[in-house]
Amino acid sequence: MMATDLLKKQHRKAEELFKKLEKGGRMTAGTLDDLATDLIAHMAIENEIFYPAVRSVQPDLIAEAIEEHAVAEFELKRLIATNPKDKAFAPRLKVLQELIEHHVEEEERDLFPKIEKALGGARSTELVAAMQQRFKEIKADDTLSLLFKGAKSADERSRAADLATAT
Ligand SMILES: [Fe+2]
Ligand SMILES: [Fe+2]
Repeated sequence: MMATDLLKKQHRKAEELFKKLEKGGRMTAGTLDDLATDLIAHMAIENEIFYPAVRSVQPDLIAEAIEEHAVAEFELKRLIATNPKDKAFAPRLKVLQELIEHHVEEEERDLFPKIEKALGGARSTELVAAMQQRFKEIKADDTLSLLFKGAKSADERSRAADLATAT
């Protein structure tokens, strides 16, 4: 498997979860947790492993991608701090979905094809192993507290969430 194939697989999974969330219903809270932990782990393996390894191929696109991750993280934080019954939930979900769609489209259309050409097979296999390992580690951690910058207790997290949604 190419490093970009692993990332594309994760993109498809996020799209599925967004579709489920759009429909709403009883499973919303669990689906939202899945989406949040997947997105956090996905952006982390790109930021920590994939982007640094391929930066020299397309430095400008990588710099933009890092900024887009930061914006997505901001909106994700607002979304998971929002009760699905609140009227702010739908617009926050929509904006996050649009940000991610745009970002994924640029990665898959502009960035990944160039990287696939530049990366050797052995290097790509190495990256896949490192990213899979790190993805698992992050998912096993308390990922949501990672998003709230180390807020460990529910109390600290809810304060961080209040800050995130303050208007
Ligand atoms: Fe990605
Ligand atoms: Fe990305």
